[in-house]
Amino acid sequence: QGRITVPAIRARKGAEPIVCLTAYTTPMAQRLDPHCDLLLVGDSLGMVVYGMESTLAVTVDMMINHGKAVMRGSSNACVIVDLPFGSYQESKEQAFRTASRILAETGCAGVKLEGGAELADTVEFLSQRGIPVMAHIGLMPQQVNTMGGFKSQGRGEEAAAKVIADAKAVAKAGAFSVVVEGTVEAVARLITTEIDIPTIGIGASVACDGQVLVTEDILGLFSDFTPKFVKRYADLGDQVSKAVESYATEVRNRQFPTDDHCFGVTKPGKLRAVK
Ligand code: KIV
Ligand code: NA
Repeated sequence: QGRITVPAIRARKGAEPIVCLTAYTTPMAQRLDPHCDLLLVGDSLGMVVYGMESTLAVTVDMMINHGKAVMRGSSNACVIVDLPFGSYQESKEQAFRTASRILAETGCAGVKLEGGAELADTVEFLSQRGIPVMAHIGLMPQQVNTMGGFKSQGRGEEAAAKVIADAKAVAKAGAFSVVVEGTVEAVARLITTEIDIPTIGIGASVACDGQVLVTEDILGLFSDFTPKFVKRYADLGDQVSKAVESYATEVRNRQFPTDDHCFGVTKPGKLRAVK
């Protein structure tokens, strides 16, 4: 029956919660796809997969390669790919060039960019030219240097007013949904009632129209740091360590491989003399 479309996601506003997780690879996408409405190929992959300290060094080529991998591993979810730092902020034309290339090469349904009021003209330019845009406001990891770290947003009247204005600006500009990250509950709740596109929360309370988290965070596969808003649903990192420890022990003790894992095993005595 095909993938969930961007208009279908938008139409979830006020109806049904939107389930979203990040995905970077084919095997993980295969596991997530049946359960998710949206798969986000996030630039968080720079930190989670490549061990970078921030998302700033992630390139368009990296996003395209991982976008293709996630598309190959999914058939149900709507796939959205992040525009990485430096690939869209310069001008709306630059943003269109980057986004159109990502859509054409990966086959994804749309792109996500970090920004509020200051990026509204870019959101509008893309949306009106066939590129669905998911905006991302509140805590914007690509602005780590201007923020001086990863800090929650919307505390105090002025800060709250800024996030609310950003939400309204991107909704008016034609974004089909908006990620609200690391934003105090009251502000996220207000935004969700005030704009007519779905809010996808990450550390922005249950009031949002949907939720997103980094998959490796909820599975216990990434523990360099764990933000307050992450809930851990499994400890796969522990399982990996235990499995690899067993393998290493068995190799060192010559317990692996056994005959079950070998080709052309000859029973002792049946071995023909080799001249
Ligand atoms: O890069 C990312 O994974 C994200 C989400 C967590 C919203 O932007
Ligand atoms: Na991101």
